[in-house]
Amino acid sequence: MKIYPRTEKYDPAWISENWMGPNPLWLLEDLCEHLELKPGMKVLDMGCGKGITSVFLAKEYGATVFANDLWVSATDNLRRFEEAGVADKVFPIHAEAHALPYADGFFDAAISIDSYEYYGADELYFPCTYSKLVKPGGQFGIVVPGLVKEYDSGCPDTLKDLWVGEMFSFHSKDWWRRLWEKTGLVEITSCYDMDDPKEIWWPWAKWAKENFSKEWGDGGDFDERFLNADTNNEVALVVMSAVKK
Ligand SMILES: C[S@@+](CC[C@H](N)C(=O)[O-])C[C@H]1O[C@@H](n2cnc3c(N)ncnc32)[C@H](O)[C@@H]1O
Repeated sequence: MKIYPRTEKYDPAWISENWMGPNPLWLLEDLCEHLELKPGMKVLDMGCGKGITSVFLAKEYGATVFANDLWVSATDNLRRFEEAGVADKVFPIHAEAHALPYADGFFDAAISIDSYEYYGADELYFPCTYSKLVKPGGQFGIVVPGLVKEYDSGCPDTLKDLWVGEMFSFHSKDWWRRLWEKTGLVEITSCYDMDDPKEIWWPWAKWAKENFSKEWGDGGDFDERFLNADTNNEVALVVMSAVKK
């Protein structure tokens, strides 16, 4: 599997205490190869979860980060940012994706790691909400769990017994590209499937089986069952970046 040198600087125990899906720092580091982030830029980390991607953006790029999440409280995230020594650069915000408190054009960049699929697969979300957050020339980046292609039934046959609710927003890279490109608001700068998606996903799946229930209730073995069922390797991790016109 690809080496992520920036992520290697971070304590694996800290990452797994705070991840909420496949290693968010690996996903972000891959995405950042297609972004140009500079010190002082204002970056929205949308759906930051427990905020480790926000810490990474502040430490690695000197960005000023608005760490926006719904399920995780801003107070808990503030404590984590203080412990990581970045509370002067990372601001925790509790807000729902359709009711964000930011001015239009406020951000230099907006990124979202394993979160945009929860609200952004809606046709209206990008043109009516998300695109407005960033200034002209500003950047967008997402990494989402997805599929290697589109399926008439919505999912691969191997996964149909496990396909529930929010997974209907898992799509192919071409589907995501079209969703943004057709708005005419952005130039797509990258759109691809990460290499070895299941190798990236497995450490989280194994961790979740042991630990998920302590905080989040039942379902900790779901990702393991999901990855094992994907015998034709049709699961993907899609990276997409864009620049606002
Ligand atoms: C699978 S977790 C990933 C969290 C983090 N990015 C990570 O990779 O560890 C998805 C995140 O998306 C956020 N989210 C889901 N729906 C949202 C919504 N409607 N508005 C804002 N955030 C949302 C949740 O709060 C959650 O933290």
